[in-house]
Amino acid sequence: MVSDMGNLDKIIKETVSAVEAGKRQVFEIAESSQLEYCRLKKEFEEVRQQVSSMVNEVDTITVEEKKARTRLAEVSKNFKKYTEQDIKKAYEDAQEKQLKLANLRGSERLLRYKRDSMEQSLRRLEGMLNKAENLASQLSIVTNYLTGNLKDLSQKIDDMQQVQLLGISIIKAQEEERRRVARDIHDGPAQLMANIVMRAEFCLKLMDVDHNKVREELHDLQNLVRQSLQDVRKIIFDLRPMVLDDLGLVPAVRRYAEDFQAQYDLPVEIVVIGTARRFPITIEVALFRILQECLSNIRKHARANRIMIKVEILTGKINVVVKDDGIGFNLDQIKNAGKRECFGLLGMRERTQILKGEITINSSHGQGSVISVSVPLED
Ligand SMILES: Nc1ncnc2c1ncn2[C@@H]1O[C@H](COP(=O)(O)OP(=O)(O)OP(=O)(O)O)[C@@H](O)[C@H]1O
Ligand SMILES: [Mg+2]
Repeated sequence: MVSDMGNLDKIIKETVSAVEAGKRQVFEIAESSQLEYCRLKKEFEEVRQQVSSMVNEVDTITVEEKKARTRLAEVSKNFKKYTEQDIKKAYEDAQEKQLKLANLRGSERLLRYKRDSMEQSLRRLEGMLNKAENLASQLSIVTNYLTGNLKDLSQKIDDMQQVQLLGISIIKAQEEERRRVARDIHDGPAQLMANIVMRAEFCLKLMDVDHNKVREELHDLQNLVRQSLQDVRKIIFDLRPMVLDDLGLVPAVRRYAEDFQAQYDLPVEIVVIGTARRFPITIEVALFRILQECLSNIRKHARANRIMIKVEILTGKINVVVKDDGIGFNLDQIKNAGKRECFGLLGMRERTQILKGEITINSSHGQGSVISVSVPLED
């Protein structure tokens, strides 16, 4: 699905660039046709001028030729009145004018032909130019339309991919959480209970033999049951502390911090700024989970001596900051190493993102870590 959308996006982009290339070519064709048109038009004007001066010339020569013919007729009719010289001249004159006229008429025909075919070419070019301009503007509309709308489409595809990736990592995170719970139950209460069953069987066998030994065993058994009860309570608390649903975020954080401090012998200081109240349960659960992961990371990785939790309730937003004085880490290195998927930090980001909040992770080697989450509140 993700790769299909990637392909679609690629195809769309390629289509847009093909259309743009086509548009460029049409522009080039239009441009060279325009140049050709201008050149032809200039030439055509010259030929038109030539035609009209040729027409004048033909008219003049026609008149002259007619005169020469009349003169020849006159001379031929009254040959006694004219000298042989006169007759010869009139004859040559008429012949010359006739020849000239014939030549001129020939040239005129040619010129007219040239002019007419140029006119046709000009009209053809004009038509082509109009078409090219039309096509170019249509292609402009198409590309504007495509790029405008496709930008939105690409954005939509990106958003869908993001949502999809987010969905996948949420599922992975859920699976990881289930795995952890299964492991916790397997390593803790399940083993303790197996042990309890064995011890109870032993007690049953001892009943008739050694009462004192049975008392001792029962005492141990009681401790084992107490311990598994504690483990079960802890698992339940980790899964979803009831105090979170019943009393809200701040009391749940206080309870969690107290337990944590007692269990791991690590001082946790809590500062609450603003009046504690109830927030939408999605916000309370998300912030609590983030805090849980922060403390779990500190326990697993930080080697810290102190932890400070600050919950700041402001109008329009709630900030939670978790600070430790441990060994710190380099976020880029962790991202680049990518040896295995770390769900902790990823989950924090996702939960914050879902609530349209912001998370900043500030840490460097030897400098401890500060994780700040800010989530907007509706009222
Ligand atoms: N407070 C901290 N101090 C020092 N290093 C930390 C701290 N928080 C996180 N890290 C480092 O960042 C890494 C990534 O943390 P993240 O919570 O994502 O994964 P993880 O704790 O290793 O595994 P997971 O949470 O999935 O069980 C940790 O492996 C650790 O190296
Ligand atoms: Mg972690």
